[in-house]
Amino acid sequence: MVRIGILGCANVAQRHIIPNVLVLPEYSLTAIASRNKAKSTHLANLYNCRKEDSYESLISRPDIDAIYIPLPVGLHHFWAKKALDFGKHVLVEKSFTHDLDIACELVELATQKNLVVMENFMFLYHSQQIYVKGEIDSGLIGDVRCFRSSFGFPPLSRDNIRYKKELGGGSLLDAGAYPIRASQMFLGGSMSVSAASLFVDPKLDVDIFGGAFLTNNAGLFSEIAFGFDNFYQCNYEIWGSLGKITVSRAFTAGPDFLPQVTVEHQGKEHKAQLPTDNHAKNMLREFSYAIKNQEKRIRFYEEIIDQAKIIHDVHVKAKKVTEGIHAGFN
Ligand SMILES: NC(=O)c1ccc[n+]([C@@H]2O[C@H](COP(=O)([O-])OP(=O)(O)OC[C@H]3O[C@@H](n4cnc5c(N)ncnc54)[C@H](OP(=O)(O)O)[C@@H]3O)[C@@H](O)[C@H]2O)c1
Repeated sequence: MVRIGILGCANVAQRHIIPNVLVLPEYSLTAIASRNKAKSTHLANLYNCRKEDSYESLISRPDIDAIYIPLPVGLHHFWAKKALDFGKHVLVEKSFTHDLDIACELVELATQKNLVVMENFMFLYHSQQIYVKGEIDSGLIGDVRCFRSSFGFPPLSRDNIRYKKELGGGSLLDAGAYPIRASQMFLGGSMSVSAASLFVDPKLDVDIFGGAFLTNNAGLFSEIAFGFDNFYQCNYEIWGSLGKITVSRAFTAGPDFLPQVTVEHQGKEHKAQLPTDNHAKNMLREFSYAIKNQEKRIRFYEEIIDQAKIIHDVHVKAKKVTEGIHAGFN
């Protein structure tokens, strides 16, 4: 059993992770920490676990094996390093960090200490992706020609962490990370960025929307778009020589959602209705498995670095547009 502690009473922790930790036999929720005593007391009572009034005191608890870090992106590295220094396995929310060199240092530290670090992309563990892979492998859409994906949503409230530069805000690290990860999942190979655009609010110094064109070493390409001043989109499509597969709820298919995958082939369109799945639960099982499995652990290290390299590359190559860009708050 993995005895887990949670740093911060984040939305994502309360909505997706804690409810699943509580029901999985692989886990026991030991403690939750908050900067705010009332919040940690409330959640500790609600979830019947211990509370800590500082992140550091949670990390230093000897009765915890793993730490879950659902903090703003700009704080991930500091607390992940501390957790690794204390010998804890670490599950870090996406994006892993805001900086490639720091991501490499953390992975190096985890490697030296033989500890798990995993970047949390739950969608990877949803059975709809397995279905799509199966359809591709069966040859139904022929040879893959290209991948396209969009993830974006309407503006958030003004105080949201995603608008704060000092907390690692920005749409690339938040929403853009998903289509980047999905491109790697489906096209494979080492990917690099051929072109990118980032639309940056100059007052906030945070990108609000953007896009990129990625290629793998075989030349296969992916077109991605993302943002948080956008009409809601959460999809990908894989266009092949004989057909096309479209997933309309690619990254946020919750446990009650009935996924539908559209397959176009030989002039016909088929909508496959798939069963519900709980990708948060599946992801947590993978994390606990990696604690026992060296190979899986190494795979996570590689995935973190590949992802961080692409995000870095988007930043370096992007045409940055600031004129007339203002975050539209909700
Ligand atoms: N994998 C997914 O599906 C998914 C979905 C949504 C978000 N995320 C990721 O999860 C992380 C948190 O996102 P969220 O939407 O859940 O955020 P959120 O509700 O704003 O929570 C962030 C938490 O960080 C803590 N915190 C520490 N220092 C802070 C500071 N200076 N300002 C604000 N909060 C601070 C706070 O906890 P205390 O006040 O209790 O200490 C706060 O509750 C981000 O990395 C995001 O990218 C992942």
